[in-house]
Amino acid sequence: MRSVTITNGYEQSDREQPLDIVDLEALEELARQIIPTGGFGYISGGSEDEWTKARNREAFNTAQIPPRMLADIDHPSTETSIFGIPLKTPVIMAPAAAQGLAHSRGEAATAEGMAAAGTIMSQSTYGTTTIEQTAAAAPGAPWFFQLYMSTDWDFNHALIDQAKKFGASAVVLTVDSTQGGYREADVLNKFQFPLPMANLEQFSSRGSEGKGIAEIYAAAAQAISVDDVRQEYGCRTTVAASSMVDPVHSTCCRASRVRSTVGCR
Ligand SMILES: Cc1cc2nc3c(=O)[nH]c(=O)nc-3n(C[C@H](O)[C@H](O)[C@H](O)COP(=O)(O)O)c2cc1C
Repeated sequence: MRSVTITNGYEQSDREQPLDIVDLEALEELARQIIPTGGFGYISGGSEDEWTKARNREAFNTAQIPPRMLADIDHPSTETSIFGIPLKTPVIMAPAAAQGLAHSRGEAATAEGMAAAGTIMSQSTYGTTTIEQTAAAAPGAPWFFQLYMSTDWDFNHALIDQAKKFGASAVVLTVDSTQGGYREADVLNKFQFPLPMANLEQFSSRGSEGKGIAEIYAAAAQAISVDDVRQEYGCRTTVAASSMVDPVHSTCCRASRVRSTVGCR
C-alpha cells in the first residue's frame, strides 16, 4: 500500500522500512520507483551531459581507505574525526537541498540516519525542514550548516544565528555555485520546486514555492570573497575540498567543490 503525503500536488513518500539492498545502485533503483519523476530527476540528475557527475563517481570509486599493515591491530576501525569531532566513519553527508522531495520527513529523517551512523549531517540552506526541526531530530548529534550566501544580508545573519542557536558545529559556505547548472532532467521534466524551502519561508522575503533552481540561485550572492566572510563573521577560514575532480568544470556542473569551513565567534 503506497503511503504518501500530497503537498502542492507532489506525492512525498511516507514509507519507512528496513532496506533490503545490496548496493547503492539497488538503492537508486528503489528510489526511482518511489520518488515522483521530477523529484527523482532533480536528485539524481547532473548538469549538461553529466560529464562531471560521471567523473565525480569515478573519483569516488578511486578514493581508497588503505589498511595499515603489520600494525598489530585486532579490530580495525574506520573511526576518525573532523575538526576534533569523533566520527564512526570517514564519510560525512554533503549538503543536499529539498530532501522532502524524497520523503515527507525530509532532512529530519536524514539527520536521524546520520546520527545513527555516527557521522555528520550537513544541513542545506535550501532544506525542506527548518534548522530547528532538523537539529531536534538528532539531539546532541554533531551537524554542519551549509550557507548559500544571499544578497540579502539579514537573511544570511538570521540563518547563521539560527544555526549557532541550535548547535551547528561549523558553517559550510558554498562558494562555487553562484550560478545554477543547466540541468537537463529538470528542463525535460519542467521541474519547479513543489515544496516550500523552510528557511526561505521563515527568514527570506522572497519565499521559494513554485520556483525553479535558476530562480532560487538568482537570490544567491554572485560576488563573494574571503573578506566578506572574515568581515561579516570575524572568522578563521579553512578551505576544505570534497571530491575535487576538475576545477575547470566546477562552476557549470553538479560536482567538484571547494568549500570554506568557517569557525565563527
Ligand atoms: C540533489 C542535490 C542537492 C544538492 N544540494 C546542495 C545544497 O543545497 N548545497 C550545497 O552546497 N551543495 C548541494 N549539492 C552538492 C553536493 O553537496 C555535492 O557537493 C555534490 O553533489 C558533489 O558531490 P558528490 O559527487 O559526492 O555527489 C547538492 C547535490 C545534489 C545531488
